[in-house]
Amino acid sequence: MCGIVGYIGEKQAAPFLLSGLARLEYRGYDSAGIAVYNNGDITVAKKKGKLAVLSESIEDGFKIKGTFGIGHTRWATHGEPSDVNSHPHTSMSGTFAVVHNGIIENYLTLKDELTNKGFEFKSQTDTEVIAQLLEMYYEGDLFDAVVKTTARLNGSYALGIVCKDYPDTMMAVRKESPLIVGLGTGENYIASDIPAILGHTRNVYLLENDEFVVATKEDVKIYDRNKNLIKKKIFEVNWDVEAAEKGGYDSFMYKEMLEQPRALRDTIHPRIHEGHVKLDNISMTKEDIEKFTKISIIGCGSAYHVGCVGKYVIEKLTRKPVEVELASEFRYREPIVDDTTLVVVISQSGETADTIAAMRDAKKAGARILSIVNVVGSTIARESEDILYTWAGPEIAVATTKAYSTQLSAIYLIALYMADLLGTIEKDQLDKYVKALYDLPDKVEKVIEKREEIKAVADEYCKIEHAFFIGRGTDYAAAMEGSLKLKEISYVHSEAYAAGELKHGTISLIENGTLVVAVAASKNHFDKMLSNIEEVRARGAVIYALCGEGNKLIEKKAKYVFYIPDTEDIFTPSLVVPPMQLFGYYVSKAKGLDVDKPRNLAKSVTVE
Ligand code: AGP
Repeated sequence: MCGIVGYIGEKQAAPFLLSGLARLEYRGYDSAGIAVYNNGDITVAKKKGKLAVLSESIEDGFKIKGTFGIGHTRWATHGEPSDVNSHPHTSMSGTFAVVHNGIIENYLTLKDELTNKGFEFKSQTDTEVIAQLLEMYYEGDLFDAVVKTTARLNGSYALGIVCKDYPDTMMAVRKESPLIVGLGTGENYIASDIPAILGHTRNVYLLENDEFVVATKEDVKIYDRNKNLIKKKIFEVNWDVEAAEKGGYDSFMYKEMLEQPRALRDTIHPRIHEGHVKLDNISMTKEDIEKFTKISIIGCGSAYHVGCVGKYVIEKLTRKPVEVELASEFRYREPIVDDTTLVVVISQSGETADTIAAMRDAKKAGARILSIVNVVGSTIARESEDILYTWAGPEIAVATTKAYSTQLSAIYLIALYMADLLGTIEKDQLDKYVKALYDLPDKVEKVIEKREEIKAVADEYCKIEHAFFIGRGTDYAAAMEGSLKLKEISYVHSEAYAAGELKHGTISLIENGTLVVAVAASKNHFDKMLSNIEEVRARGAVIYALCGEGNKLIEKKAKYVFYIPDTEDIFTPSLVVPPMQLFGYYVSKAKGLDVDKPRNLAKSVTVE
């Protein structure tokens, strides 16, 4: 999510760091900063806003002397975008400066421990905890302090570290968040992404989890946490800058689809503690929730489709009535909203004009606003009483994938949180749901690993002009997103239909060879779906079924079947939507279209 660069060599570090950060601008960020070692001290410059703000404040880096430093562009997760929340973060005595990409799941516990030991904090970030831990464990041996510090961290991190006592040594370490080492001549580099160092070297080490970098200007050593030397193979980068920005993939959409397991772990895991859902940034009490007579979910496009899943899940778990509405409709129908209504506002960008306007109308009518947003400090986030951030990281492709998936997981978290407080589900059922939710990212990973199966069908059907996506319950809501993905990136006309509704008219459109994607993952609706599949097949439809492993029966009725791993029914949208994202993607690729920038579309619709 954030961008990291580091330099140790003979040239001035600051201009290098700024130019490296500029190469990471495509990722989107809200603040930037650098820390440079010089004559026994570490100079830190960091600013909210675009890189230009920082650059101007330090005369493009020429104001800061030193040949060893680290830099960072921040995509805020913990703590609003601000100068003080920007990286690098320093330890209390100033001995350490740290840049971090990732999420420390246990940072609040660590922050309490450190505060009780007298450490004072300046920021709201999880990263500052790392700088203070380094100080706490430091007894003169930098490597030892880094090993002890990282042993305390749960979650994901890529770290760049400067220590005042080690003017010739840059340390770095990765766990889950990407980090590479660039190998130069008389200088070496670290970066979260290859583009940052492409202009200087094409020889890199791609770090694995728990690999510790000890870099001087002449030499780079990689160790495990027991200080055993690791022999790394040099990866020679033959990408151009554009390919490098996509991690070597051919599109941001593909890269972001494959990032979904990581994005889901970052969004779900920090919110599950000892079998319960604990939500940060939520002040809503049990009494507040008991008072709600209705829950209204509003959003546009894919965010609206998340709401459609949310209706089924929240009603099932909390027994509270839930309405879902397109924001552009909600705001013009004089909605029945008052201070007993909870309005859940879903938006990746947090800047969608229709959604903002609908939220403001609801707020004016007295409703409580809870938003699910991917951009910290965005308009919708700033105007909500409660926020549940998705930690998908920057989403660059116009067609949403990882943001949609993390929004779904946010809905599950909210539903379980409220049901737990209201006591509307038995403890043993709650335990099952919480465990299934925790395991969901791994199951999404398994689904994505089977993407070649989906490509084969997409390549065969890339010339179709129409397609139908049918399902029941949460499968119907998931089908809506599958249909939108196909439409918006491959320009194939498609419709999502409640499978039980086809016979009331639309089935007249089914003719020989019409592709019907039958989303049949829900165990509750499986038998009914078999009948609906039979209905359309009898009229010549070709069936592509998505269902749970073991339902061999369906192979008698569907020409193609994609099996998903077993999970709780309410979570199946998270496992059936990625295959449909991939289907739309492969059809679009087969048609030679631009999957990242589909015609007529914008990433954030900030106009009505
Ligand atoms: C999804 O692929 C589309 N790009 C679009 O429907 C999007 O979901 C919608 O515009 C809402 O955007 P938001 O989540 O940023 O509010």
